[in-house]
Amino acid sequence: MTKLLESPKDLFARLSKSVIDQDTALEQICVSLYKHLNHIRVGNILLIGNSGTGKTTIMRNIEKMFADDERLSRFTNTIRLNANVVADDQTAKLESSIIINRLHQNATRIMGSDPSPERFKELMENGVVFLDEVDKIRAVVGDRPNARGIQAQEALLTLIEGELLELSLTQRSDDGELSTHKITVDTSRILFICGGAFEGLYDAVYRRVSSGEHRDKLIQEYVVSDGQENVEEKEYFSLNQYVRYEDMFEYGMTPQFLGRFDEIIVLNDLSVHALMRIFIEPKESVFRESQVYFQTLGIDLQITKEAVQLLAERAHENHRIGARALRSVFKRIMRGIEFDPAGSYLVRDDSGSKRLMVTSELVSRFA
Ligand SMILES: Nc1ncnc2c1ncn2[C@@H]1O[C@H](COP(=O)(O)OP(=O)(O)O)[C@@H](O)[C@H]1O
Ligand SMILES: [Mg+2]
Repeated sequence: MTKLLESPKDLFARLSKSVIDQDTALEQICVSLYKHLNHIRVGNILLIGNSGTGKTTIMRNIEKMFADDERLSRFTNTIRLNANVVADDQTAKLESSIIINRLHQNATRIMGSDPSPERFKELMENGVVFLDEVDKIRAVVGDRPNARGIQAQEALLTLIEGELLELSLTQRSDDGELSTHKITVDTSRILFICGGAFEGLYDAVYRRVSSGEHRDKLIQEYVVSDGQENVEEKEYFSLNQYVRYEDMFEYGMTPQFLGRFDEIIVLNDLSVHALMRIFIEPKESVFRESQVYFQTLGIDLQITKEAVQLLAERAHENHRIGARALRSVFKRIMRGIEFDPAGSYLVRDDSGSKRLMVTSELVSRFA
């Protein structure tokens, strides 16, 4: 069998350009993706990460990677949807369920004017479903069963476990006649990449780990501070190290549903340093986007390293929204300047070209 891509590392090299500081998670994801691309059996992917840590960014970039590489064209049938939509789906038959419908429509769109049964089958069976906010379909909320959540998990499970579905494909012949074929599609290979913030999970797992018999299992870290003689002993806790399937059951994901995931992948909360990189590095970063805006006005936008640091620190104060805070902090700084870029921050160099420098002074004034 010819390999589609050299290795999981190749996938990692591509994705890590746009997904910053989630290397451990990304490595796990790339192994799963590599298996999927090479038709090796693989469980689905469950991503846990606080808001603004990169879940949607990961999904989008996987989608983009498939779309940008000819060799991956049969994997381009990707859809993104919210788990709530599945919970609201009243369709009884899997053939006409929202997920199958969306994959069907998408496959039809990809094939364009030249659909064929083989291509349709291939696109459907290699589909990727990005399901966001799966934590919203809990089977229990508080102590009570949540009927919507249970139903949604059950509906997903049937699809995930793989069914043979008879789907219709309409083709138009050369003389314009429409004909409809029934095509059997095996859904077992469709890859589900699910994401959720799972709010409260961190505390629940910490409570479990730090109490009772498990207590001694917490990793001890020895911290030696500058100029101090004492060595401090600190407990180190990360969700990634300690989260177990039991915690997820407890949270309200049913064992059957979870059983279809090989592992639970936890995204890091982002450090100031990570935020600095996210602000600048990715092609679609907030800063690069702004540079494009100022270019249209004939202005070269620049920023000092100190300014990036300060801006990232300000964004970091806003834990709850992760990297999303970068955009709002930067917006606050640039609001007036975007409208009227004249002023002391705008300099003209010898050749007469205009440059706008974002300094730490400017950041501290507005952010
Ligand atoms: N790890 C990351 N690498 C690069 N950009 C990120 C990362 N995390 C968040 N971002 C940026 O922050 C914004 C929100 O991130 P998103 O992926 O939508 O978060 P969520 O985890 O809530 O889905 C995105 O526009 C993206 O640019
Ligand atoms: Mg998201």
